[in-house]
Amino acid sequence: MSEAAVALRTRPLGPGFGAEIEDVDIHTADEATLDAVVDTFHRHGAILLRGQTLDPAELTAFIGRFGEPEDHTQKQFTLPGYPKVFVLSNRVVDGKPIGAHNDGVGWHTDYSYKAEPVMCTMLYAVEVPPEGSDTLLADQCAAWDALPAERQEQLKDLKLHHSYQYFMETREYGRQTLSEELKAQNPDVIHPLIRTHPADGRKALWVSTGTVKEIVGMPNPEGLQLIDELVEWVTQDRFVYRHKWREGDVLVWDNRCTLHTGTLYDDTKYYRLMHRLWAKGDKPF
Ligand code: SIN
Repeated sequence: MSEAAVALRTRPLGPGFGAEIEDVDIHTADEATLDAVVDTFHRHGAILLRGQTLDPAELTAFIGRFGEPEDHTQKQFTLPGYPKVFVLSNRVVDGKPIGAHNDGVGWHTDYSYKAEPVMCTMLYAVEVPPEGSDTLLADQCAAWDALPAERQEQLKDLKLHHSYQYFMETREYGRQTLSEELKAQNPDVIHPLIRTHPADGRKALWVSTGTVKEIVGMPNPEGLQLIDELVEWVTQDRFVYRHKWREGDVLVWDNRCTLHTGTLYDDTKYYRLMHRLWAKGDKPF
């Protein structure tokens, strides 16, 4: 990938991955600066820009710089008129929730139940609690690199069975029985446990919870115990960046090499309102 022409001021986000980009206002930035922002994302796996003011149309245009915007599986919490903007919130207006509450709690990688999971996720903080609700990102490439060679050898050919139906019917928050339509739209898929990043060939320990129903050819509970063990490995502090939200933050991460989770907050005291957007990805290999 060629170096972008504009030099941005950045500082590291996490232990070995991610960059905070300083002094860029997405709303007013020129084309070359925005190209440099996307280039920084591709080189670091995650980017943060603080202090932004973006309306849904601007957010949709911004995610489009990373790739074609992806649709959301469940449509009831997308913003009216902005189908690519999904609302995460505990706010209730006129007796109806305006967003999915605690939707991202539990280590996962987005859209892993699809044949082509999303390449990146963007979260924009509209309203955040003063404490709690952090988002954690774990570096799956560093986690793979840190495994002993003999462990890598044991894991390298494993395949995971991902299932949206299994996920939605067993998850802790937002559990639901799927309609026949959603079942038909989201058939189960098989993905490799070890994923190769198409840009630089790095391997990622592409494990996840929630959507993983089994390891192909390994009976449960052993299979799911191994998944838990690998998630514990990937989510050690040395591989994790903990993001403490401020209103106006835009955080974008690469789902091909990071695992993430939302965290709880006191929803009897505080409100949280986030806009989430996705850019399309490709088939893991
Ligand atoms: C997500 O997993 O998509 C959202 C994470 C969060 O709400 O912090």
